[in-house]
Amino acid sequence: MSDKLRVGILGGTGMVGQRFITLLENHPWFEVVLVAASGRSAGKPYEEAIQGRWKMTTPVPEFVKKMTVLDMDKDFDQIVSSVDFVFCAVNMPKDEIKALEERYAKAEVPVVSNNSAHRWTPDVPMILPEVNPEHTDVIEAQKKRLGTTRGFIAVKPNCSIQSYAPAIAALKEFEPKLVVATTYQAISGAGKTFEQWPEMVENIIPYIGGEEEKSEKEPLRILGKVEDGKIVPASEPVITCQCLRVPVLDGHTAAVFINFGKKPTKEQIIEKWRNFKGVPQELDLPSAPKQFIQYLEEDDRPQVKLDVNYEHGMGVSFGRLREDSVFDYKFVGLSHNTLRGAAGGAVLCAELLKAKGFITKKN
Ligand SMILES: NC(=O)c1ccc[n+]([C@@H]2O[C@H](COP(=O)([O-])OP(=O)(O)OC[C@H]3O[C@@H](n4cnc5c(N)ncnc54)[C@H](OP(=O)(O)O)[C@@H]3O)[C@@H](O)[C@H]2O)c1
Repeated sequence: MSDKLRVGILGGTGMVGQRFITLLENHPWFEVVLVAASGRSAGKPYEEAIQGRWKMTTPVPEFVKKMTVLDMDKDFDQIVSSVDFVFCAVNMPKDEIKALEERYAKAEVPVVSNNSAHRWTPDVPMILPEVNPEHTDVIEAQKKRLGTTRGFIAVKPNCSIQSYAPAIAALKEFEPKLVVATTYQAISGAGKTFEQWPEMVENIIPYIGGEEEKSEKEPLRILGKVEDGKIVPASEPVITCQCLRVPVLDGHTAAVFINFGKKPTKEQIIEKWRNFKGVPQELDLPSAPKQFIQYLEEDDRPQVKLDVNYEHGMGVSFGRLREDSVFDYKFVGLSHNTLRGAAGGAVLCAELLKAKGFITKKN
């Protein structure tokens, strides 16, 4: 038997699920042993279930083509007994996702989730692995609540915040007080391609449901601390956001203004960004970018076409840092929304959880 941890993908037929399957094809620690989805796909070989809706640019991996898709509800017992943990990325009402993820966790299956349903459950860690790896400390309290020994839920944050939250986190010692961010978000963030969303060609839509609230609040939870078995969000910086959908396939850009309590020099900011490292780099986790943040000096960078795939889409790029006439500074950030912002970020989170001993092989 392989030493790799056996993983199931709940929602493996969807856009994020497809990304998990391609990312995990030759993963050194994890092996995809099953894919589950709704009753619409269940019982079909994977290649038939995703026919006409494969959204990756690489072909469907051979290992998954003939796998029979399971029903995440009806085949629950079979799934639970076959895996060491699951990734979850499903498109369902929030209360149903909450119940689904708790059902698996209570059956002693760790759940690493891309969904937003549990992002504000006080004892569920929302992890950006370079920034708040210590939030895994809250898992013990969660297990106590769920009555489990190995089952728990961990989530990753919304894709929009990866284009500016790492920049703020790296500058914590200068006391960021106020952030004004406008995000320019790719259509793959809505699970769409241009074929499926022709209205987006040469268009901008100034509304993404629920996105501004997530973009303003989630960074504060990530910058918060664990107290009495709960995550207590930070109270600063105050963040206000506008989120726009733009005609880009992959890559969320953010234009950011920032004020500090202790205003640093431009050189200090760039130095902090370039040297920002976290546990994923220290432990050399398989999906960790070697260099998490790059700063680009050219006036016309970062650009989606040139920079979105930096560090295999797992690094973030900043540029255009300059003093502002109203705020202390302004800059531009870019991150890959379906890699760092979705499946890649969740895989890195699972690697961190394995390295810290929270996800183990079942006896
Ligand atoms: N797209 C992104 O970039 C992105 C980024 C971050 C987070 N997310 C989050 O990730 C999740 C999935 O997004 P997505 O874009 O991958 O969605 P998607 O392409 O619509 O895929 C949804 C998946 O959920 C399954 N599903 C839908 N209804 C179900 C039901 N009633 N019971 C069981 N399974 C059901 C689908 O199965 P069938 O194929 O059988 O219908 C499919 O596998 C969402 O919570 C989304 O907010 C997405």
